[in-house]
Amino acid sequence: MKPDMRVNLCGLELVNPVIAASGTFGYGVEFEEIVNLRRIGGLVTKGISAEPMAGNQSPRLIETAAGMINAIGLQNVGVEKFLADKLPPLRNYPSCAAIVNVFGYAINDYLAVVDRLNDAEGIAAYEINASCPNTKNGGIAFGSDVDMLFDLVSRAKSRSRRPVIVKLSPNVTSIAAMASSAQKAGADAVSLVNTFLALPIDIETRRSRLWNITGGLSGPAIKPIAVRMVWEAAKAVTIPVIGLGGIVTPEDAVEFLLAGATAVQVGTASYADPRATERLAQGLEQWCARHHVARVAELTGALDTTFPNPPA
Ligand SMILES: Cc1cc2nc3c(=O)[nH]c(=O)nc-3n(C[C@H](O)[C@H](O)[C@H](O)COP(=O)(O)O)c2cc1C
Repeated sequence: MKPDMRVNLCGLELVNPVIAASGTFGYGVEFEEIVNLRRIGGLVTKGISAEPMAGNQSPRLIETAAGMINAIGLQNVGVEKFLADKLPPLRNYPSCAAIVNVFGYAINDYLAVVDRLNDAEGIAAYEINASCPNTKNGGIAFGSDVDMLFDLVSRAKSRSRRPVIVKLSPNVTSIAAMASSAQKAGADAVSLVNTFLALPIDIETRRSRLWNITGGLSGPAIKPIAVRMVWEAAKAVTIPVIGLGGIVTPEDAVEFLLAGATAVQVGTASYADPRATERLAQGLEQWCARHHVARVAELTGALDTTFPNPPA
């Protein structure tokens, strides 16, 4: 019997729980020739700001053991060009939820993007990137302070005409506190994790390998930490959790679902294999069929934490 792969994510009916992660899938449209967008649950665009941004200087992407560190600096075409050129072709794929990732360096920057996107058709939800530094508050990331996060999310929520997913930063002491703050502020879902702050040093030159000095670590290296954080966040909130961080195989996705995720996102894996999202969606369905899982949704939060673990 074919497993039922549909999931309900804060009112969005996804054909399956596999979503392409922000910053690793362009604006979506660039992948239409590579990935069958009808076979994935959704995609998250590159982060969009009110004005176009050039991003950081090179080098801005380096490979590490089982991962990579990027300091792209949120390069993007800006909301006007996104609406004019990038969004229209996505309307040909109505079953693939188009989620727009939004960022800014002050709350008003985020609101300006949300206001502008509200009138456009064909957007399923917004994903608010809370990892950005708040330049009005000494550059502390919105997502690393419970009160700043609450302010950002409650104001974004009051302006948004669509579900608001809050993308949490993992660079915090308590991910549970951050997830609860997002929920209290009215978030419809949280997604985690974004990248871990990292510093790659070239010992010959005694300099960082990145122009920006620090960057964000992603890929398989972060997966077990991300799974733990998803588990902690899922226990702290009642809204859906989207899990990501290092997912490459269907089995990786199952770990996140068991930890409490309703859906998963796939980021860095698309760099190694641009078809990774579609391959994962298909592989997850096969995994469910092999394990007699009738509905993928039944995996969410099904982690058994009783001790001792039964012998293998
Ligand atoms: C090159 C690159 C660019 C990214 N840009 C964004 C972004 O614009 N907004 C955002 O919320 N996350 C961004 N991310 C973070 C990813 O969406 C994801 O949270 C992170 O990479 C962990 O997942 P992964 O290990 O599957 O890549 C970016 C990641 C990479 C590698």
